[in-house]
Amino acid sequence: MKNIAVIGAGTMGNGIAHTFAQNGFKVQLIDISQEALNKGLKTISTNLDRMVAKEKISEQQKTETLNNISTFTSIKAGVDFAALVVEAATENLDLKLKIFKELDEACSESAILATNTSSISITQIAAVTSNPQRVIGMHFMNPVPIMPLVEIIRGYNTSNEVTNSIMQLCKTLGKEPVEVNDYPGFVANRILMPMLNESIETLYNGVAGVKEIDAVMKLGMAHPMGPLQLADFIGLDVCLSILNVMYNGFKNPKYAPCPLLVNMVNAGKLGIKSGEGFYNYSESKKAEKVSKQFLM
Ligand SMILES: NC(=O)c1ccc[n+]([C@@H]2O[C@H](COP(=O)([O-])OP(=O)(O)OC[C@H]3O[C@@H](n4cnc5c(N)ncnc54)[C@H](O)[C@@H]3O)[C@@H](O)[C@H]2O)c1
Repeated sequence: MKNIAVIGAGTMGNGIAHTFAQNGFKVQLIDISQEALNKGLKTISTNLDRMVAKEKISEQQKTETLNNISTFTSIKAGVDFAALVVEAATENLDLKLKIFKELDEACSESAILATNTSSISITQIAAVTSNPQRVIGMHFMNPVPIMPLVEIIRGYNTSNEVTNSIMQLCKTLGKEPVEVNDYPGFVANRILMPMLNESIETLYNGVAGVKEIDAVMKLGMAHPMGPLQLADFIGLDVCLSILNVMYNGFKNPKYAPCPLLVNMVNAGKLGIKSGEGFYNYSESKKAEKVSKQFLM
C-alpha cells in the first residue's frame, strides 16, 4: 500500500493525511470545499513546524511530508490508484452512504474502504457497496499525529484478510490498533460520550461552572483535559451526532443528548472549530491553547 486517499480535510482528515504522509505514503486528500483543503494543509504545516521546533523531525522531513500530499475536490479523481480510502467526512449517515456508493464505483476492486466514523454502523455503510467484505472502521483519535490508539471496527461482513491487513498497516504508522465489534459508539465513544454528556448536564443543572467542572476532573481524576474542553476539541456537533446514534441505536434514554448541547449546536457554537464552545477561542487564544495541548 503506497497510495492512500483521505476524504474530508477537517479536524480528523488533515491529521490522518499528516500521519500517512509523514510515514512515506502518497496521500490524496479530498474535500468538497477548497477552503477546507487550504485550511487542512495549513494546519498540517503548522503542526509540522511545531515538530521541527521540538526537534522531533527535520526540516527536510517536513518538506517531504508536505510533498507527499496532493489535494482534490472530486472523489472520482482523488481515489485513482488508492489502495486504501479512509473516509473522514462529516458525521452524517446519509452523507456516508452516498460517499460509499460513489467509492464502490470509483475505486479499484482491490482497494480497502475504511471509515473513521465515531459511531455510525460499519455494517450499514458496507451494505450500500457491492463488496462489504472490504469495508472496515478505522477510528483514529484526535489529535491523530500524537494519539496511539486506532479502534479497528469489524463490520458484520468484514473479511479476516482486510482486518489483518489494516491492523498491520496501523503498526507501520506507529499506532496501536485495537479490534472491536460493530455496535453503536463501538467502545471508545460508548464510554466517553456519556461522561461528556453528563458534564454538560452538570453545567446545565447549575451544579458548577465550566472551569470548575473541568478542574474537578483534571485535578481529581488525573484527566489531562477537562471534559468540557475535550468536547470543544472534538466538536460539539460531532458529540451530538454520536449521542444521537447511540440513543437511537440502543433506544435507551441514558444516551439522550443534554438540551444545552442541542441548543449550542443549533446556535453554531461548535467548539474550537467555530471559535466558541464552552470556552472562547479567539485566533490568538486558540493558537495558545492548541500549542499547549498538542505535545508535538
Ligand atoms: N472530531 C473528532 O475528535 C473525531 C474523532 C474521531 C473520529 N471522528 C470522526 O471523523 C469524521 C470527521 O470528523 P471531523 O471532526 O474531522 O469533522 P469536520 O467537520 O472537522 O470535517 C469534516 C470535513 O468533511 C468535509 N466533507 C463534507 N462532505 C464531504 C464530501 N461529500 N466529500 C468530501 N468531503 C466532505 C467537510 O467539508 C469538512 O471539511 C466524522 O465521522 C467523525 O465522527 C471525529
